[in-house]
Amino acid sequence: MDTLVIHGGRALTGEVAVSGAKNAALPAMAAALLASGEHRLRRVPRLADVATLGRLLGHMGVGVERGRGRAGHELVLSTPGEIRPEAPYDLVKTMRASVLVLGPLLARVGRARVSLPGGCAIGARPIDQHLKGLAALGADIRLAHGYVEATVPKGGLRGAHVPFDVVSVTGTENLMMAAALARGKTVLSNAAREPEVEDLAVALVRMGARIAGAGTDVVEIEGVEGLRPIDHEVIADRIEAGTLLVAAAATGGEIALRGARADHLEALLQKLRESGSRIESEDGALRLRASGRPAAVGLRTAPYPGFPTDMQAQMTTLMAIAEGSAVIEETVFENRFMHVLELQRMGADITVSGRTAHVQGVRRIEGAPVMATDLRASASLVLAGLVADGRTVVQRVYHLDRGYERLERKLRLLGADVRRVAAGRRDGLR
Ligand code: UD1
Repeated sequence: MDTLVIHGGRALTGEVAVSGAKNAALPAMAAALLASGEHRLRRVPRLADVATLGRLLGHMGVGVERGRGRAGHELVLSTPGEIRPEAPYDLVKTMRASVLVLGPLLARVGRARVSLPGGCAIGARPIDQHLKGLAALGADIRLAHGYVEATVPKGGLRGAHVPFDVVSVTGTENLMMAAALARGKTVLSNAAREPEVEDLAVALVRMGARIAGAGTDVVEIEGVEGLRPIDHEVIADRIEAGTLLVAAAATGGEIALRGARADHLEALLQKLRESGSRIESEDGALRLRASGRPAAVGLRTAPYPGFPTDMQAQMTTLMAIAEGSAVIEETVFENRFMHVLELQRMGADITVSGRTAHVQGVRRIEGAPVMATDLRASASLVLAGLVADGRTVVQRVYHLDRGYERLERKLRLLGADVRRVAAGRRDGLR
């Protein structure tokens, strides 16, 4: 397994481009199941999760081809007339987003057998809302042997009112895709408002779907008879952008991120400003200039437009070295403070009780061997390595590779001392 070896203490400076959003690329790929023909997706990041979903779609009969060279971020998906509506455990277990194929399969094929998902170890993460919504559209759903087995009665799915009990990003996306080909009108209430949900709606509308309200908490979908292939460029990754901004703030740096969208990052930018960074959006880039040691700011995660849970771990690292104390409350996922134990080993002063972390900022943290436990926790450890005295070795980098496109390369471009050491090689360890 690869490791990242980081020598901390360098302020990040310079400019890099933001990659396409993992969480927008995955649903757009799943949407390719909704229409036969050749789909083209642009700005698709090269990530383990994208490769996993590609393999899963391949298993169903979809041709998946990535462009080469300059076209390396283009994905061509060739969806056949006949799809094998099955998502086996081996392909689904590493990635919870695999559940995104369920809605499209039911809409297009009328039946599906999809393994219950795995993914990050950050709490129970059930899919009851997906299943409840699909049942409301008329699907007959059973759970057997770790699989969801679903069929649609003759005549297909029919529009319905689906009030979500909890706000679910992929749940909203799954239902939007299923409802796109249902008979009649579907109304999703208490829907997720994330920019990635809106981006999927843009892609679906381009395919011929009739969707209104995506990006608000009520989404209306008028089912259509059929859809055409997509040609779509996914939005920039707000979480990658946010991670780099926090890295710059933590190291006292000054960076510009090409393609980052301030309007998708409002809650984070507000916290970074309160913490002392100056942030401006100009010429298609977002610029952050840190000034000295960050000030402590508390936060509470919430569905969009609240503070993103996917940025909580990185902000915990920033607060670990901030001046003052901060209370960080995680309301979206239970068990999402696993990075704290590792940060403590680096000298951070953090106590967790239930869903709340109390962070007393310290002036310095120290490099140490640490272990990544989930995707965003890994990012927080990399950030900690960037500010720590001495050497940090982050193990289990495969978690990071699920969702960041070679983060270490971008950090190096910004002046960080970060090296990837391939599994089995020790020569990179200084
Ligand atoms: C998506 C993102 C993930 C992000 C999360 C929250 C993708 C591919 N992943 O994950 O990066 O961390 O949103 O912003 O877009 N829940 C239920 N029942 C359900 C579904 C969800 O109880 O059927 C709960 C979850 O356990 C969790 C909360 O709702 O506590 C939010 O989960 P959800 O929005 O569904 O997360 P994902 O869509 O899996």
